[in-house]
Amino acid sequence: VRDDELLKLLVRAAEEMAKAAVEARERWAGRLRGKDLERKIDYAAVDAFKSVVGEGVEGYYVISEEGFEKPPEGGRYILVDPVDGTSNMCRGIPFSAVSLAVSDGDTMDSVRIGVVRDIFRGAVYYAVRGRGAYKDGRRIRVGVGRRLSEAAVSVAVTRAVCGRSKVLEILPALPYPRYLGSASLEACLVAEGALDAYVDVRGLLRVFDVAAAQLIVREAGGRVLVTQNGSREVRLSRIGGVSIIAAATGELLDEIASVVGVGRVPTRF
Ligand code: IPD
Ligand code: CA
Repeated sequence: VRDDELLKLLVRAAEEMAKAAVEARERWAGRLRGKDLERKIDYAAVDAFKSVVGEGVEGYYVISEEGFEKPPEGGRYILVDPVDGTSNMCRGIPFSAVSLAVSDGDTMDSVRIGVVRDIFRGAVYYAVRGRGAYKDGRRIRVGVGRRLSEAAVSVAVTRAVCGRSKVLEILPALPYPRYLGSASLEACLVAEGALDAYVDVRGLLRVFDVAAAQLIVREAGGRVLVTQNGSREVRLSRIGGVSIIAAATGELLDEIASVVGVGRVPTRF
């Protein structure tokens, strides 16, 4: 399959998945709660993926949190996050996304196509490696090179502990701290220059949460540091332990990394 065809197929799948997720929420939100509601929404989106893409694309394994076999190590993958920002979705906070990525190999560096569809606004962000990043067909670029003292930065703080979690030390340094609750969409906001950086160094993300968006940020001219259990080698088949700092510039990324201690202490906080 050619990249253009694969991209088209994934954009169409993401659109159907977003529709299915919204319909499932409308249908079940009054009747189910918590994990049960999450599962209904996730499975509705996965079913929509399967109805567009089938069981997958020949030569690729599908990696997702729901509804697929565990992938073998090695090989090429399609990484599927049916809903990134599930708690937002379940509560009706309109900030969540479908995230789809294609990789040539088992590491994050080998991701070559990324598609993130904003479920509520309907915007679609995408990138093919080496060909730039786009939103609804228009080229996007990261913002101007702001320093930390003037930057809008989204920082994931769930389960951070006062006095122990170094990530909390960044908050007083920020004029515009945010935490929006969908890793892929927050990274896309960096790609289009709305946020200057996105920081999630808890080590709680999974490969499919950020696979597409990290490529979109890089292709938009930004800098991204992704780690897995403290290592820069991120294995797509290992799924968990992922942290990310995505920033408009290398200087801002370095500034953030030094405050949150990435590179000097393990990324786990
Ligand atoms: C979640 C989102 C959220 C992050 C959580 C993730 P999910 O993904 O990316 O921003 O803070 O750690 O689990 O579970 O909604 O796909
Ligand atoms: Ca998810």
